[in-house]
Amino acid sequence: MERTFVMLKPGVLQRRIAGEVLSRFERKGLKIIALKIVRMDRAMAEAHYAEHKGKDFYEKLVDYTLSGPVVAMILEGEDAVTAVRRMVGPTDVQNSQPGTIRGDFAYRTRLNIVHASDSTAGAERETALFFKPGEIVEWEDRNGQWY
Ligand code: CMP
Repeated sequence: MERTFVMLKPGVLQRRIAGEVLSRFERKGLKIIALKIVRMDRAMAEAHYAEHKGKDFYEKLVDYTLSGPVVAMILEGEDAVTAVRRMVGPTDVQNSQPGTIRGDFAYRTRLNIVHASDSTAGAERETALFFKPGEIVEWEDRNGQWY
């Protein structure tokens, strides 16, 4: 089964919508196998967003990421990377349709509420940055027939 990494950005806890966002992933049938609140430090935020270093929005992106705790999670499901990206919506909030998480909760691209891995390789890299192997809990899916 495929795994993907998701990070709810600081605005989510600030706005008290963590449960609402998390519940969308659960409702879809994705399986939460790791979940925690993290206060990232600068080195971690810079490592997470290394591919964007040098872009005009990079400094503000890192500052926003450091502005409060984030919620990090690993979700498991068939084609989880694509399924989650579809639910999250495009990075640019102007293109995010209502019904997607960004389309429903985010007004600005820089504050686009949620980060989701763009590939399985990205998910592995991001998972390793946030979670130790012992923090990932594999559990038997007794409701599998519903999803
Ligand atoms: P995320 O999925 O976390 O990955 C990189 C982040 O950079 C992205 O979401 C946005 O928050 C931010 N970002 C990408 N493009 C822009 C942009 N043009 N202006 C401001 N922020 C951006």
